[in-house]
Amino acid sequence: MAKRNKTINTARNTQTARIIAVASQKGGVGKTATVTNMAVGLVSLGYKTAIIDMDAQGHIALSFGIKKTDLKKTIYDVLIGEARMKDIKQHAYGVDLYLSNGSLSDLSPKVTAQTNSKLFPARKYLLRRAISEIKTQYDYILIDTSPSNDIPTMNSLLASTDIIIPVLPEGLSIDGIYETIGLIKSIQEEGTKVNILGVLPTMVQDHTNLHHVKLQELRKEFAETPDIKVFETVIKRAIRHGLAQTHGEPDINKAPEYLTFVKEVFAIA
Ligand SMILES: Nc1ncnc2c1ncn2[C@@H]1O[C@H](COP(=O)(O)OP(=O)(O)OP(=O)(O)O)[C@@H](O)[C@H]1O
Ligand SMILES: [Mg+2]
Repeated sequence: MAKRNKTINTARNTQTARIIAVASQKGGVGKTATVTNMAVGLVSLGYKTAIIDMDAQGHIALSFGIKKTDLKKTIYDVLIGEARMKDIKQHAYGVDLYLSNGSLSDLSPKVTAQTNSKLFPARKYLLRRAISEIKTQYDYILIDTSPSNDIPTMNSLLASTDIIIPVLPEGLSIDGIYETIGLIKSIQEEGTKVNILGVLPTMVQDHTNLHHVKLQELRKEFAETPDIKVFETVIKRAIRHGLAQTHGEPDINKAPEYLTFVKEVFAIA
């Protein structure tokens, strides 16, 4: 079993996982890199950790060196009720993986089809049901999402206890935060208890004036928003991140900022 908890902030006190979606409707901001490196960081600290890939791009498989075209069953099969989570579980670099590939694109048409409306009455809660099969097995379950507000993303947000929003400190990317926050607020207003853990600056080039200024603006702006924080830790732009992902060899020693980050977020050591 996993390492015993040291602080009241960790998942183990409740014997059920904290479920964290990494979400932004903006593409290419480091969602998958964040999920991957947080997971290997948590494993290196002794926490039992799983990833669920809710993006049809299937980038978690690639990030862990698994060929997505080789997957016989994926999270899609679980969501439509044709497999159990234990049937699709993979394991790499200490992390349990519930993977996806292009088949997940079929989810929206399948569950919204008129003829299937009786089969999927709770189509936004399919992932919550799937996670209930595994949540007592883990300290942390991380969910990678796609840059959209489609059915898989809605399922992810509604199944989560917490959300992290990565952002590049650049104009258009910063704008993307507000769309994501708006989506989460609408879910909260409908009565779902989900907490925005904070905004994580990614691919930061703090030697450039643009990033430096934008990061300061971002911190100032959110200092006035008590329920949303910008994390102290920032993830630098570095070729090692891209290489680890394309080689499918995640290594927390090559992404030490993410270790600092998980310690900050979960107040663990
Ligand atoms: N800190 C970093 N420094 C340099 N490159 C990075 C960093 N983080 C991620 N990358 C690279 O940038 C690209 C986009 O990152 P990533 O795939 O994590 O973004 P994403 O938000 O998941 O994208 P999408 O919205 O398409 O799912 C990838 O090629 C990745 O390897
Ligand atoms: Mg991604």
